[in-house]
Amino acid sequence: MLLKEKVAVITGGGRGIGRAIAKKFAADGASVVVTARSQKEIDEVSKEIRTGGGKATSVVADVSREKDCAEIVNSARKAFGAIHILVNNAGVLGPVNPVEKITPAEWDDVMAVNLRGPFLLSRLVLSEMYERGSGAILNIVSIAAKAAFQLNAPYAASKAGLIGLTHTLAAEAAREGVRVNALSPGPVPETKMSQELGRQLADYFKADSEQLFKQMLQGILQGRPQTADEIASAALFLVSDQSSAITGQTLNVDGGMAFY
Ligand SMILES: NC(=O)c1ccc[n+]([C@@H]2O[C@H](COP(=O)([O-])OP(=O)(O)OC[C@H]3O[C@@H](n4cnc5c(N)ncnc54)[C@H](OP(=O)(O)O)[C@@H]3O)[C@@H](O)[C@H]2O)c1
Repeated sequence: MLLKEKVAVITGGGRGIGRAIAKKFAADGASVVVTARSQKEIDEVSKEIRTGGGKATSVVADVSREKDCAEIVNSARKAFGAIHILVNNAGVLGPVNPVEKITPAEWDDVMAVNLRGPFLLSRLVLSEMYERGSGAILNIVSIAAKAAFQLNAPYAASKAGLIGLTHTLAAEAAREGVRVNALSPGPVPETKMSQELGRQLADYFKADSEQLFKQMLQGILQGRPQTADEIASAALFLVSDQSSAITGQTLNVDGGMAFY
């Protein structure tokens, strides 16, 4: 049990990668706080975990809102007494369009969730982690931050920004016993976000979505996408003591797509 007696907050834990992370952490002993905007999804994940003998609670919140982030942290402490691990996983894809067709409001909306959210939550959990002298923050970024794809400017910029935030947080927190890392998945086609992207790209290029997907897989050394469970396994490693000497890093979990 790598996370015995740890409390982990997983944003965007109601489906996709966040759900896989919540279930993986709970199976490894953590008490998990599952949070997102859709009550039904987070309640289902919490229930699945509790039915399997794990500990979980759910909190409805929008991570782009300061008040909601405070609510996540307060509810976690009320339910389980502490926060040892924060996984900033909640994310939105935003517009699939060239820059000249993206509105400033669309840009702001993506930044608010993908970049401001992790900042808001990190600033609320750090004091407790510093007082205890231990803790781990994991930010879920994307291959989009490292490669050069068309049509995803706010998404790519938000994820590249999140890598920058990871570096600064890691530098500030390292001597306080707190590690901060990022995890960069490649395509995880089972998730809603990935399927939405596939559909929108096919529409934009007036192409067959399966053909586009096959083409993209050619750029991956393993020639296949990743599963949410594979991302969750790497997340478990990065928040556990197994990675005690790793901080300020971005781990590519992409089957061999990015090489820095
Ligand atoms: N799937 C991929 O191929 C892929 C690749 C690289 C990186 N990623 C990253 O992995 C993370 C998870 O993505 P996914 O593929 O699992 O997507 P997903 O299935 O769409 O899940 C996204 C999660 O984030 C939550 N969320 C979205 N906006 C939120 C907000 N404002 N406040 C709180 N929660 C919010 C969603 O719940 P609600 O809508 O109910 O709030 C949902 O639980 C994201 O950060 C994404 O950028 C995904």
